[in-house]
Amino acid sequence: MAVSLVPKISSFLYWVAFLTLVLNVLSSVAVKHDNFKTCAQSGFCKRNRAFADAVSASSPPYLYQISQGTATFTNGQFRATVSKAIADGATVQLPLNITFLQSGLARVELDEERRRTGDIELRHGSKARKERYNESPAWALVGGLDVDASAKLAEESRNGVTIIDFGEGHRSTAVIRHTPFSIDFQRNGDTQVKFNNRGFLNVEHWRQKIEKEDVPEGGAEKPSEKPGAEDESTWWEESFGGNTDTKPKGPESIALDISFPGYENVFGIPEHTGPLSLRQTRGVNQDDFTDPYRLYNSDVFEYELNSPMTLYGAIPFMQAHRKDSSVGILWLNAAETWIDITKKKRSGPKLDTDTHWISESGVMDVFVFLGPNPHDLTKALADLTGNTQLPQQFSVGYHQCRWNYMSDEEVKEVDAKFDKHGIPYDVIWLDLEYTDDRKYFTWDMDKFQNPMAMHAQLDVTHRKVVTLIDPHIKNTANYPVVDELKKRDLTIKNKDGNTYEGWCWPGSSHWIDCFNPIARAWWETLFKPDFWKYSTYNTFIWNDMNEPSVFNGPETTMPKDNLHHGNWEHRDVHNINGMTFVNATYHALLNRQPRKPHRPFILTRSFYAGSQRLGAMWTGDNLAEWGHLEASLPMILSLNIAGFPNSGADVGGFFGTPDSELLTRWMQAGAFYPFFRAHAHIDTRRREPYVAGPPYTGIMTQAIRLRYQLLPAWYTAFHEASMDNSPILRPQYYVHPGDEAGFGMDDQFYVGSTGLLVKPVTRAGATSVDVYFADDEVYYDYFEYTMYSKKGFKTVDAPLNKIPIFARGGHIIPRKDRPRRSTHLMQYDPITLMVVLDKAGNAEGSLYLDDGETFDYESGAQVFARFIFSKDSSSLTSQDMATTGSMTKSYRQEMSKVRVEKVIVVGAPSRWANKKHVTAEQGSKTIEADMQFHPASGNKAAWAIVRDPGVSIAKDWKINFL
Ligand code: GLC
Repeated sequence: MAVSLVPKISSFLYWVAFLTLVLNVLSSVAVKHDNFKTCAQSGFCKRNRAFADAVSASSPPYLYQISQGTATFTNGQFRATVSKAIADGATVQLPLNITFLQSGLARVELDEERRRTGDIELRHGSKARKERYNESPAWALVGGLDVDASAKLAEESRNGVTIIDFGEGHRSTAVIRHTPFSIDFQRNGDTQVKFNNRGFLNVEHWRQKIEKEDVPEGGAEKPSEKPGAEDESTWWEESFGGNTDTKPKGPESIALDISFPGYENVFGIPEHTGPLSLRQTRGVNQDDFTDPYRLYNSDVFEYELNSPMTLYGAIPFMQAHRKDSSVGILWLNAAETWIDITKKKRSGPKLDTDTHWISESGVMDVFVFLGPNPHDLTKALADLTGNTQLPQQFSVGYHQCRWNYMSDEEVKEVDAKFDKHGIPYDVIWLDLEYTDDRKYFTWDMDKFQNPMAMHAQLDVTHRKVVTLIDPHIKNTANYPVVDELKKRDLTIKNKDGNTYEGWCWPGSSHWIDCFNPIARAWWETLFKPDFWKYSTYNTFIWNDMNEPSVFNGPETTMPKDNLHHGNWEHRDVHNINGMTFVNATYHALLNRQPRKPHRPFILTRSFYAGSQRLGAMWTGDNLAEWGHLEASLPMILSLNIAGFPNSGADVGGFFGTPDSELLTRWMQAGAFYPFFRAHAHIDTRRREPYVAGPPYTGIMTQAIRLRYQLLPAWYTAFHEASMDNSPILRPQYYVHPGDEAGFGMDDQFYVGSTGLLVKPVTRAGATSVDVYFADDEVYYDYFEYTMYSKKGFKTVDAPLNKIPIFARGGHIIPRKDRPRRSTHLMQYDPITLMVVLDKAGNAEGSLYLDDGETFDYESGAQVFARFIFSKDSSSLTSQDMATTGSMTKSYRQEMSKVRVEKVIVVGAPSRWANKKHVTAEQGSKTIEADMQFHPASGNKAAWAIVRDPGVSIAKDWKINFL
């Protein structure tokens, strides 16, 4: 560990925390299993698994039914009271709402009457709220809640079974059985999703603790010895790793089984390592996990591969897919959640996937998606949780990071070296050490003696700086930020209601509570350049450690009995916490230039459903190992289909030192991550792409340049994601929903709707890869136009200098072919269109452009062109699809200088062999442009190139190839 890590030491305790950290870093590279709970160590998970096992083993009498006479159905909403039978004939009342939404979704909400009305007592004189947490929608959802008033009661409804038809053409149906309570969701009469058909519904209701004489005050209660009795040992208190959770609300978990009949594959619920198609979790087969997938945002140090262990973020969205049908659910709960997955043969040729969702607290709030296409799910999820933020264009370029660039001089030197080697990059990052003693909003003026000169050098090439700002605020004297935080009482509190103190990078720290609107308003003031000296409008933000990471906290995070704004327990809001911090930073950046707001750029480590609206994420502290390169692909694909497309992994691996081959292959894969950043731990050797030398530096340069060449295609994919949250990387099943052979594939993917299929090399020493082509359409090697036109696997050459990329016939890919130093410098560069004909001789694609910085595109300052190559008319046309507004005219004027410089037609018909010219029309202008035809040779396709057709990108045009 480098000396620079050592902050000023103020106390013995600091040394203890610091040494623990050092030992962590130096000891063997492997996740510390002991730091994190298994299901058996998490009281509510263990209880619910045991409950499920008991139900499966003995079909005990049903516990949950809709109370007679409580069911009503009006205006698209079914309401009833579910009663839970408890001991001695008593019941617990659980209000149920099933709402049918215009988007075709159904929403099922279940609460607990007694906690809702506050008719309970909390233990230890706790100030916590009594209700089950019900504010997740306020953070995660932005819309999509309009009720489908046309939903109607079906005639087949009868006593004890309510049947409701809903959705487009009333093709969807909910069959609500009253006794025992269960719901089947059908599409066109076929059951797609089942709730509680296995009887695992479990709402742990509030109960008074019965003090037993033999239990010492504060000690653990012994399990009841009555046969068949519930395991009460973790109801009132739970200890783990030396921390005790005082659980003032007692047991409060909520659990439900959800089955997908005939669906063998389920995807989603990031963030985990392991395959995209989720594994079984109850250890039936050798490959199965034995623990459920866990969602409990945590700083999992040196995380392991192929594991259901929790990681830094959580999106409780699952998609089930079978041939030509996708359905899904969103389990909107912010507390610790575990999900068991098992597969079972029942009726029919396929397995059913059975899932069991278990959350520690809060209301039950589940959305059901009935598809039928993967993209229908994407759109419906986007209606609820929002779209990807349209990022500033610079952030789509390459990011150079390491912990740490230690001085302004070093930043300038790295910047100059990129230029010297002709390697484009857009952003240089400053990790922790730029601050004065880890006090955010300060600079270490010994190391960064002239930050403004540093900014000035970067400005020349329009490069940006991203600096780290974490949510822990150093608890020290003479630091105005912490003084104000405390004075204004904006901290997260401990269980007694006093400011919580814990340990993180700066040593003793406090945490800002971004659930509090006043805290958010104050946070904004810190980002103004007049407060934060030497920051500029080109300084962007990295929000790290926001799970939150607390070095001395339980499972390296905050105690669950801590309190947030509104007296919600941390337990209830944990998985949303990280998103609230990014939200505060987002608004701070948005408002720092009130006269001309620019789009914020923020990278987050922790996330929840909805975080895609605020910026990008990365997959945390991976290792410089081939396995981690390989694992990054399913991780990013999972994020893409679960609603967070703008994602990436540390290129090169955070811990350890990659050899040059691994680094090169990682750079090639990273060039296809939506968020493309190289990063490295402070202890690792330097590895900027120019360090490795030949041939590696040259090959990495080519990979980065390829990213920049395809920038228009990437930015167009981001635009698409900003309109309906379409994945930017798409797995096989998503693009070919009818091709069963691709359902389990997660080592190759498509880029947006460009038709580009990429299979990164992730194995040491590989010189070829096996690529899977899902159909008989023609696929062309991106660089050489070699043709592949047979469905199935094909072994293709992949020497070190080659990225296996294929263009599927039928697409038009926009590019900018001139190498530049940064994205901004490409702004007015001419466009190349790569027209990749399908077997029938047609192709289409699109291009989106705007200023890449501001919100002017909302006022029409955009170019959005749809390109169609039609075989019938032998023409390529560009049609305007842009949203127009007050700024359209001036922007088009500005962009009229951006011209199409080349059209490359791959798979050009042989009848063009003697053709030397084409005619291009734009407005009243007609131009004759040169065309060169290159005949097919061997298995390489014929291609033609049109140079300078003289058309501008800003208006419609047509090129005739007749
Ligand atoms: C965390 C981040 C890592 C960063 C480090 C220091 O470990 O995940 O990327 O470099 O903190 O800030």
